[in-house]
Amino acid sequence: MTMSGKLAVITGASSGIGAATAKALAADGCEVVLAARRLERLRALAEEIGEGATAIGLDVTDPASVAALAAEVPRCDLLVNNAGGALGLEPLRDADEENWRQMYEANVMGTMRMTRALLPALLDSGAGHVVTVTSTTAFEAYRGGAGYMAAKHAQRATLRALRLELLGEPLRITEVAPGMVETEFSLVRFGGDEAAASRVYEGTEPLRAEDVAECIRWAVAQPPRVNVDEIVVRPRAQATAVDVHRE
Ligand SMILES: NC(=O)c1ccc[n+]([C@@H]2O[C@H](COP(=O)([O-])OP(=O)(O)OC[C@H]3O[C@@H](n4cnc5c(N)ncnc54)[C@H](OP(=O)(O)O)[C@@H]3O)[C@@H](O)[C@H]2O)c1
Repeated sequence: MTMSGKLAVITGASSGIGAATAKALAADGCEVVLAARRLERLRALAEEIGEGATAIGLDVTDPASVAALAAEVPRCDLLVNNAGGALGLEPLRDADEENWRQMYEANVMGTMRMTRALLPALLDSGAGHVVTVTSTTAFEAYRGGAGYMAAKHAQRATLRALRLELLGEPLRITEVAPGMVETEFSLVRFGGDEAAASRVYEGTEPLRAEDVAECIRWAVAQPPRVNVDEIVVRPRAQATAVDVHRE
């Protein structure tokens, strides 16, 4: 029970990596605030986790929603900036401006808003921690990924600045950059097209949400003097964003 007495806010907890992270942290004794837009899902997860889990509706693209969540949270030891994802896989010459804007809003502005809003509570805790889920696309390229890559590169850059700005404060900053993970990520990216989503994982063994959650749990469980700056985690069958072994 390494996290006993601590409180974590996890964004994007209604599915995939966020939901798995909430379960892993709760299993370590942490109180968890589950935040995302789909409140019904969060409530079901809170019920499954049991005591110490609270569901709060949150849209990280809406400043008022972020402010409302921050006002509801009494204290905070850990913020997991996980909400986000990709929309579309079109080449840049066909770029959909609304998709690009949404990706920037959720991944970059969302991370900035949540971090800024909870920073006072995180610093007050005396040993705060901000973990942000970026992606290997935060430093690699693939065709059709420009809009998502631009957002993830920017998200990674903000964390670098934050680490410098908060040097000397009682706060750790960790980036977790996963490769391919089988979640609802591809379903969302392809607008609900299940066939297109399942082709992404065809013939290969992707990571599971629990694998990434375990990386987060491990980084958080280190003593406060230890700052795990970044974790890059991929499936064994994936060497780069584009090199995937398929049977
Ligand atoms: N799966 C992968 O291959 C992969 C690889 C590298 C990085 N990542 C990153 O990992 C993170 C989690 O993705 P996932 O794979 O777990 O996908 P997922 O299953 O689609 O989960 C995404 C989560 O983000 C939430 N979310 C999206 N927009 C939001 C918004 N505006 N406000 C609040 N919550 C929002 C969703 O909840 P609601 O829809 O209920 O709001 C959902 O809980 C993302 O940042 C993604 O970019 C994923």
